[in-house]
Amino acid sequence: MKNKSLISITDYSKENYLRIIELAAEFEKSPVQNLLNGKVIACLFFEPSTRTRLSFESAINRLGGRVIGFADSGTSSVQKGESLKDTIMTVAKYCDLIIMRHPVEGSARYASEVAKVPVINAGDGANQHPTQCLLDLYSIQKTQGKLNNLNICMIGDLKYGRTVHSLLMAMSYFNPTFHFISPELLKMPDEYKLYLENLGIKYFEHEEFTGFISEADIIYVTRVQKERFSDPIEYEKVKNAYILKNNMLEKTKSNMRILHPLPRVNEIHTDVDENAKAYYFIQALNGVYVRQAIITSILGLK
Ligand code: CP
Repeated sequence: MKNKSLISITDYSKENYLRIIELAAEFEKSPVQNLLNGKVIACLFFEPSTRTRLSFESAINRLGGRVIGFADSGTSSVQKGESLKDTIMTVAKYCDLIIMRHPVEGSARYASEVAKVPVINAGDGANQHPTQCLLDLYSIQKTQGKLNNLNICMIGDLKYGRTVHSLLMAMSYFNPTFHFISPELLKMPDEYKLYLENLGIKYFEHEEFTGFISEADIIYVTRVQKERFSDPIEYEKVKNAYILKNNMLEKTKSNMRILHPLPRVNEIHTDVDENAKAYYFIQALNGVYVRQAIITSILGLK
């Protein structure tokens, strides 16, 4: 992991995932450490973010590092027409590590090829969100006590939701059974289904919530990604396709947990929030410890 960019979840091995989970558990017990003293980390967010940017910044601050960057590229020279390449080559001279979110798929990989420092992909279009995936793995391990042989329901926008794409690939090491629940328009793309088929991993597709959620260990809900639709009428058709409500959880397993990368719009009713099975806000907190683990691993400090 040392000095290696993290662009796709497939850049890491199963052993790497387990190492990050182990380190994150250590940081959860002791989140304030001076490991990043003297280090400067650039957070370049070309797309909006609350959790990813602020949990990275919280992680860095708690480790004694310094953050530079922008939350809105409109305040940078990108606004004057500067290319991504020139931006990255410049910022790389000011820091030890770049964390970048960008709307264009493949942009993070490109940045890692031109930067002289490691790059962490904080989300590139509908493609990948590997640090979210690692915090999802950590959340699953914490709530289920294991990663193997779990029944995972993914609900909502499985087409544009980059977090489900990363999670599906990572979980494929652990013999999961997947249920994909989405409207036709937002089905899991064929490339990911083929990925599972080649590995012999079971998946089932549904358009309706039915009895099978009673078998779920994890229900992973996603927002319909309005920003990825080219046609607003298509978005209107599917925006409220699924709304998870408290009364739908009665027959679910006692240890089942609901995950959501957040932000939520309407897809989980607020009456679920007080249910002990709602885990999404703790999941967001787990992001701090997991990102501490990722940064210190890449910088060779752990
Ligand atoms: N989960 C996630 O990526 O949230 P933000 O868009 O708020 O960073």
